[in-house]
Order: sequence, then structure tokens, then C-alpha cells
Amino acid sequence: MKTIITYGTFDLFHYGHVRLLKRLKALGDRLIVAVSTDEFNAIKGKAAFFSHAQRVEMLQACKHVDLVIAETHWQQKIADIKRYNVDTFAIGNDWQGSFDFLKQYCEVVYLTRTQDVSTTDIKVDLRQPSE
Ligand code: CTP
Repeated sequence: MKTIITYGTFDLFHYGHVRLLKRLKALGDRLIVAVSTDEFNAIKGKAAFFSHAQRVEMLQACKHVDLVIAETHWQQKIADIKRYNVDTFAIGNDWQGSFDFLKQYCEVVYLTRTQDVSTTDIKVDLRQPSE
């Protein structure tokens, strides 16, 4: 059984997230998603529209996701990899190179992001008055 883990905020769940999760699940048998808590987002300088509980609920409803856990701090990854017997840490390539230090614990993979969609862009577009 090959276990994959990923981390993120996943606010305003969109098709870029779904495509990433589908490709992550295809890397193995079990996909764990660590979802940033609202407190951790504040540390990252992010403010999610949906609460942590709401974002968890949406990810749990996604067929590609087997387990959702909380991401509460930057340093938890090594402990998570050991606790869940993770084979592969994978994340979008906006994080290219950032997690190479995990290579001594598991495989590290960066996947190409889906073009032309992001939570930030959706928020900006919705704020603009329609013409
Ligand atoms: N992701 C992706 N393709 C996109 C958007 C996100 O593959 N178009 C991936 C990211 O690379 C990350 C995961 O989805 O691994 C969660 O990203 P997140 O930052 O929550 O989503 P974004 O839409 O990038 O949100 P933001 O604009 O707030 O950064």
C-alpha cells in the first residue's frame, strides 16, 4: 500500500484542486490531505473564506481523498510522514524545491499546477464589478 500526503489551504475548492488531488491519488493507493487550520493560515498571512471545518468537509467529500488531517504548523511534516507511513510527499509546483529536505524520509514530488485558476484569482474576479 503506497501512501501519498499533501498539504494546503484548499479554500474556495475549485477544479485546479480537484485535478491536483486526482493526480496525487494516482501516484499511490491512499491519499492524505493535511488542511491548514485558520490559525495556521493567519501565520502564513492567508485568510480563507471558508472555515477549516468547511474546507475539511469538502475535501472529505472528494472521492480522491482517503483521509483529512489538520495542518497546524510548518514543522509537522516529518512526524506525519512517520506516523502515517507515507511513501510520497507531493504538492503543486508553486512550492518547487521548498520541501526537498523531506527526501531523506520519503519520495518528494512537485506536480504542475493547473493553469489559469487559483483561489486568489477567484476572489479578485468576484470583487470586480460586472460590465
Ligand atoms: N493547485 C494546483 N493548481 C491550481 C491551484 C492550486 O495544482 N490551479 C494546487 C497547489 O499547487 C497546492 C494545492 O493545489 O498544491 C492547494 O493550493 P492552494 O494554495 O490551497 O490553492 P490556490 O488556488 O493556489 O490558492 P491561493 O491562490 O490562495 O494560493
